[in-house]
Amino acid sequence: MRTVRVRLGKRSYQARIGPDLLGWAGKWLREIMPSGEQAALITNPDVDRLYGVLLKQGLEKQGFKTATLLVPEGEEHKSLDTAARLYAGLQAVHAERSTPILALGGGVIGDLAGFVAATYMRGLPLVLLPTTLLAQVDSSLGGKTAVDHGALKNNIGVFHQPLLIIADTSTLRSLPQAEVSNGLAEVIKYGMICDRSFFGLLEKNMQKIRAFEDPLLEEAVARSAAIKAGIVAKDERDTGLRNILNFGHTIGHAVESASDFKIKHGQAVATGMVKASSIACRMGIFPRPQLIRLKNLLLQAGLPVTMPRVDMSRVISAMEHDKKVQNGKIRFILPRAIGKVFISNEVSFALAVEVMESADD
Ligand SMILES: NC(=O)c1ccc[n+]([C@@H]2O[C@H](COP(=O)([O-])OP(=O)(O)OC[C@H]3O[C@@H](n4cnc5c(N)ncnc54)[C@H](O)[C@@H]3O)[C@@H](O)[C@H]2O)c1
Ligand SMILES: [Zn+2]
Repeated sequence: MRTVRVRLGKRSYQARIGPDLLGWAGKWLREIMPSGEQAALITNPDVDRLYGVLLKQGLEKQGFKTATLLVPEGEEHKSLDTAARLYAGLQAVHAERSTPILALGGGVIGDLAGFVAATYMRGLPLVLLPTTLLAQVDSSLGGKTAVDHGALKNNIGVFHQPLLIIADTSTLRSLPQAEVSNGLAEVIKYGMICDRSFFGLLEKNMQKIRAFEDPLLEEAVARSAAIKAGIVAKDERDTGLRNILNFGHTIGHAVESASDFKIKHGQAVATGMVKASSIACRMGIFPRPQLIRLKNLLLQAGLPVTMPRVDMSRVISAMEHDKKVQNGKIRFILPRAIGKVFISNEVSFALAVEVMESADD
């Protein structure tokens, strides 16, 4: 097991990462809450079927009566309506200010359960048990909780840091490969934004990681989590440095929304990282051989490196609206080298469009 510390003063917490950890959750919760009697588990039916019993057995052993509140699978349920149903569920089981919310699942469950934990009775303790690669390396860290509203994703939310993250890497074995690739886009992003040696480790071991081989899987998750934790610790409220986490996301978000979210986040971010790097190549600040290494690593991870079939006019207009093009310039996170990115306000919108439309990166 590896422990990553998220250092946020009084709100500091640990992410414990490794295989076969779910069975320990009861014991660890008891250490944090010596006198608690009740816990509320928020999960979805599929994840509950796979891992609910193991988790609940450990909780019961430690004397926690656990109420399970199920949320149907799917991003469309990350909504205020579902939050309202969960509030009613918590009322029905007489949840108190001290009742911990346990969120078992991917980013959808984590964001939603986190939002409910943040708002019910002005805030309940939260323990995140992420079960997708994306949730283990990204969404569980940093305290952002949210629901979607109308057409807008993550439009309503609040910061609420968990007390503990338990990332059991054994749970990743039941993920479809497409979900693994989805998370790998963020893992590769961490190498690109600040860790050249981590990028090298991924180049050497991508196939082993995709085959869930330990200790490489644990290493990849833990190093990713540590990079995100380090950035979050310096910018808890997302006012500056956290921006570099958006490498690949400027174009990525536009592609996702132009596809009506049919293209997965990780796939869109993969394309976005290639295009942002290609822009940097054309500006003469990023060496082309490194762009080729990035593309090779993404391909090894089962991710796309070219623009998917989307309506380019929608992608372009999404970028224009979303990212506030000013004086013909658009803000981009650009690489100088593998492991080094910076925030640029110098990219002309015309160049971004040209690179997006070009098949030649
Ligand atoms: N809070 C943040 O900082 C942050 C950061 C990035 C993304 N997000 C949010 O995260 C969400 C996406 O998260 P996600 O990619 O984990 O998707 P997800 O939660 O929808 O999970 C993907 C699928 O995998 C299934 N699943 C989960 N664990 C499984 C397991 N161990 N075995 C088999 N199937 C499993 C889920 O039921 C679901 O069908 C989005 O809503 C996004 O906005 C939040
Ligand atoms: Zn992302």
